[in-house]
Amino acid sequence: MSTAKLIYDGKEHELSVIEGTEGERGIEVAKLRQQTGLVTLDPGYSSTGSCTSAITFIDGEKGILRYRGYPIEQVAERARFTEVCYLLIYGRRPEPNELAEFRESMTRHTLLHEDMKKFYEGYPPGAHPMAIMAAMFASLSSFYPETDETLELNILRILAKSKTLAAFSYKKSMGQPFIYPRNDLSWPGNFLRMMFAVPAEEYEVHPVLESALNLLLILHADHEQNCSTSTVRMVGSSQANLFASLSAAICALWGPLHGGANQGVIEMLEAVQADGGDCGKFLSQVKDGKSRVRLMGFGHRVYKNFDPRATLLKRAADQIFNELGVNDPLLELAKSVEEAALKDNYFVERRLYPNVDFYSGIIYRAMGIPTEMFTVMFALGRLPGWIAHWMEQRNDESSRIHRPRQIYMGEQKREFSDQGTKVL
Ligand code: CMC
Repeated sequence: MSTAKLIYDGKEHELSVIEGTEGERGIEVAKLRQQTGLVTLDPGYSSTGSCTSAITFIDGEKGILRYRGYPIEQVAERARFTEVCYLLIYGRRPEPNELAEFRESMTRHTLLHEDMKKFYEGYPPGAHPMAIMAAMFASLSSFYPETDETLELNILRILAKSKTLAAFSYKKSMGQPFIYPRNDLSWPGNFLRMMFAVPAEEYEVHPVLESALNLLLILHADHEQNCSTSTVRMVGSSQANLFASLSAAICALWGPLHGGANQGVIEMLEAVQADGGDCGKFLSQVKDGKSRVRLMGFGHRVYKNFDPRATLLKRAADQIFNELGVNDPLLELAKSVEEAALKDNYFVERRLYPNVDFYSGIIYRAMGIPTEMFTVMFALGRLPGWIAHWMEQRNDESSRIHRPRQIYMGEQKREFSDQGTKVL
């Protein structure tokens, strides 16, 4: 094992260097405070590894993303979302009989407890579906208490019921009756029907929509230690139950710098369009630093050359639009914005490229999914990843409660004098 040396206050300290299976190296600092009295300081965790993990590998320089060792391009082309759920959570591809059983369970548990429908009645008409999703996930823990014996079943329940919860939140926002799941359909097909069917009419799942949704779910399924996954691990480290940990992750995902960016991209493109469609004018605003406007769907903490998910989605967008016969001027505008930004020094110097959210929103829109549901779609896809990370941490005997340190910069000790304000 190699080591790194830290010289501080005239003393030399040896720190172990841990090497991952893909050659990434990190200095172990868990005993640093004990050895030196120092802590590390890294706001935003740019240089901090919070754990070791065997789920997803990313090489941000080369644009590589692999689930359990399998390249995302191959998984996206050859798998169905249910198999990816199994792969991420259980660490290996299922045998055909295991996959059939897993699929069957994921369809059998799609129904919500009838009492949960009452929760929807309490929300105002414009309630954001992410607010509903976060509350519903925490509420599931009251219907399905977690024990060592129920955990496996609860994982299946989550993967099955999440789409019903999401579709119901949309139906609630539309003032339409809920459509119950139909278990002969695929995971994406069942979801699409619960979203778009109305009781008075027949609904046929469109195969292009079904395969587009399958692709989107797979591309969002995991992304190692991002903000929401780190939240799952943080909350789970206190031994909070899985539903509660996932509810926290949904809240973390909601923010516009994370999963909320897909909604932000469409709102941004609509604003540019309403302002005459001048990309140059918009990019000048982004660059001036005063307006605090960001080019949504661009930039990434890890990817510095390209996001392989965005590459796959850009290609898929053209195909899906052709097959559906949709002609959305926002797709052309998105391409113009991307082209202009990729040629612009501001973005080139900072190595800002389109990320997964840049084209996903355009595709959801073509599929008829309303903008406010986009981040919910991200959450549905990310569930297997969150569950896999929560389980990995739970099964790791060396795991401890997450409790970072800080460097205090506040007032030093001072007297709290008696000013006669104490109220009995
Ligand atoms: N538009 C304009 N400038 C940007 C952007 C952007 N989208 N992203 C980064 N920058 C600039 C930033 O102002 C900074 O410039 P300077 O060095 O002059 O201060 C520099 O690039 C580095 O940015 P940062 O904020 O330090 O980078 P980060 O790694 O902390 O943030 C990010 C990553 C994704 C939050 C950020 O790029 C961003 O806000 N992008 C827009 C929101 C977005 O698309 N989020 C989705 C991310 S992918 C899906 C997911 O997993 O969540």
